[in-house]
Amino acid sequence: MSIKEVKIKYFLNSYSLFNMLIMNYTQSTTEKFTQLKNTNADITILGIESSCDETSVAIVKNGREVLSNIISSQIEIHRRFGGVVPEIASRNHIMAINSVIDEALTKANLKLTDIDAIAVTHAPGLLGALIVGVSAAKSLSYALGVPLIKVNHIHAHVSANYIEHKTLNPPFLAVVASGGHTIIANIKSFNDFEVLGQTTDDAIGEAFDKVARLLGLPYPGGPEIEKHAKLGQANIDFFKTKKGLKKDLNLSYSGLKTAVINYVNTSKQALKNDDNFAFCTLHPELTNDICASFQKTSVDILTNAIKLAIEKNNSKAIVLAGGVAANSYLKKNLQSLCKESDLSLKYPSSLLCTDNGAMIASNAYFLIKDGLGLADLTLNAGATLKT
Ligand code: KG4
Ligand code: ZN
Repeated sequence: MSIKEVKIKYFLNSYSLFNMLIMNYTQSTTEKFTQLKNTNADITILGIESSCDETSVAIVKNGREVLSNIISSQIEIHRRFGGVVPEIASRNHIMAINSVIDEALTKANLKLTDIDAIAVTHAPGLLGALIVGVSAAKSLSYALGVPLIKVNHIHAHVSANYIEHKTLNPPFLAVVASGGHTIIANIKSFNDFEVLGQTTDDAIGEAFDKVARLLGLPYPGGPEIEKHAKLGQANIDFFKTKKGLKKDLNLSYSGLKTAVINYVNTSKQALKNDDNFAFCTLHPELTNDICASFQKTSVDILTNAIKLAIEKNNSKAIVLAGGVAANSYLKKNLQSLCKESDLSLKYPSSLLCTDNGAMIASNAYFLIKDGLGLADLTLNAGATLKT
């Protein structure tokens, strides 16, 4: 046999061995997935989240009981750049992921062999950042021989409410307000997410972040705007005659953002009438008023669309989710709307509003129970995903 023939034979042997291992893995995890779907016993899921600037790993029992939820935030790292730098985010996820997994197990007082399934955000988000979580999840799933569950990040935000409110069940109207998405959806059952309306351009959190940056406030802008808004008056009408409130369920935040940019530039020009006007600082009181007015207008835009959604769908409960759900002005506004319309309003605690692994593990539990979400080692990350 020639050297070339030996090489080909060796390659074919290793290739078939590799294929056999993958087939064994797929077969055994599919069987375990079916067992988990049908069992009445407890299910313990390890959830991994790495879609943006939080590396988070959590262990959740039966979709609602958090045994641990470790969040390693990169906020301080990205703050100096005024926003998330995708390449830096990916590199920091790589550095953090193993120790965050270890910490989640230690906090839950469990071993890897106690885990029934591995859940991971596979989309949407920053591609490089997602790949880190997906790769870690695939390795764990393969090494432990337990099912790998792919989770949609937006759906998982809603699941944070199942953890917070132990008896909450669909149907309800969900509002996901985050840095990347603004979605109003009809949740008919645990895995039936019908989008009724969404932003056609910037997300609400993105608008908060961009306006904050314009005003020289640190990243992330949402909490900063909220803090300054509390000190100011909502006395600026950014839209003047042209009202920003729409009559359908889709939303837009880029018009408001541009109106605020124009207002800030005009105010700065009035202070310093030369080409360097962009570098001058607004009076702190004016900054506070801009924050209060922007916060009010952006919340009005969302509340208006929610009102329409309630009317059209005859909804009985509203469930708020995503980073912007931590905003107390938004919660207060929706509380009054719900009181008027005799609806119940639910939202998670601030820790579960922003990105976390617990919401991923929780979502995976409900997917498993409906026989959905099983992935294999070909799972890839996706920057976008149809909701
Ligand atoms: O859900 P999340 O952690 O990440 C995404 O999936 O995007 O949301 C982050 C967003 C950021 O835009 C941040 O500025 C915003 O949530 N946010 C807030 C508040 N806390 C966080 N926006 C308004 N008010 C807050 N208190
Ligand atoms: Zn998120």
